[in-house]
Amino acid sequence: MAIKIATICGSVRPGNYTSMVLDLALDELGTYPDVEVTPLYLDNLDLPLPGLPARNPEAIEAFQNSVKGATGILLASPEYHGGISSPMKLAIDNLGFPSLLANKPVSLLGVAAGVIGAIKSTEQLRAICAHVGALPLPAVVSVAKVQQLFDSEGNCQDEGMEKLIRSSASNLIDHIKDTVCAKKSLEEVLRQLGEQQA
Ligand SMILES: Cc1cc2nc3c(=O)[nH]c(=O)nc-3n(C[C@H](O)[C@H](O)[C@H](O)COP(=O)(O)O)c2cc1C
Repeated sequence: MAIKIATICGSVRPGNYTSMVLDLALDELGTYPDVEVTPLYLDNLDLPLPGLPARNPEAIEAFQNSVKGATGILLASPEYHGGISSPMKLAIDNLGFPSLLANKPVSLLGVAAGVIGAIKSTEQLRAICAHVGALPLPAVVSVAKVQQLFDSEGNCQDEGMEKLIRSSASNLIDHIKDTVCAKKSLEEVLRQLGEQQA
């Protein structure tokens, strides 16, 4: 059975760097034959502010179903004014209360222009994810000075940072294989044993 991953890009800025960084993680996810990926972008989703009716309910439902059906989630947020972006917060607020993120492993990726990186946004994301009952992975990836990371053709110029960004994807898959899949295999073995003894 395929492992399903949904990714959410928290920037809607045209030409944004968060999606360039996220593309490396998506490329890494694409190397796993047993992983199905649904990249979710917020630009055209017209997410409603909390409490207001959706103008595009089918699209919002499809967005929610992608998260609901995923085994794991990768959240990529830009650092805006010392925190996560408002689109990312709005996306999380549109995932229900209780949240569809509950009990799902979540990998966190933060992208910043500044030298200290996306420390504050990834910390905020971790706190919000934990608050809604998701399982944020211990290793977060924070990208600093992102404007200097890519050349004019969009190639990553820093091998070490690219490896780290890719680890936001591979850590998630490793975690799912070590925990979720291992638990399911054990359940299967125990069920078969039970059937043999019956
Ligand atoms: C509203 C806004 C606030 C920002 N605040 C910060 C900040 O606090 N720290 C920082 O390092 N970069 C900040 N930036 C720069 C972003 O981190 C930068 O644009 C980076 O490329 C990630 O955002 P992007 O994916 O939209 O490109 C800010 C950008 C915007 C648009």
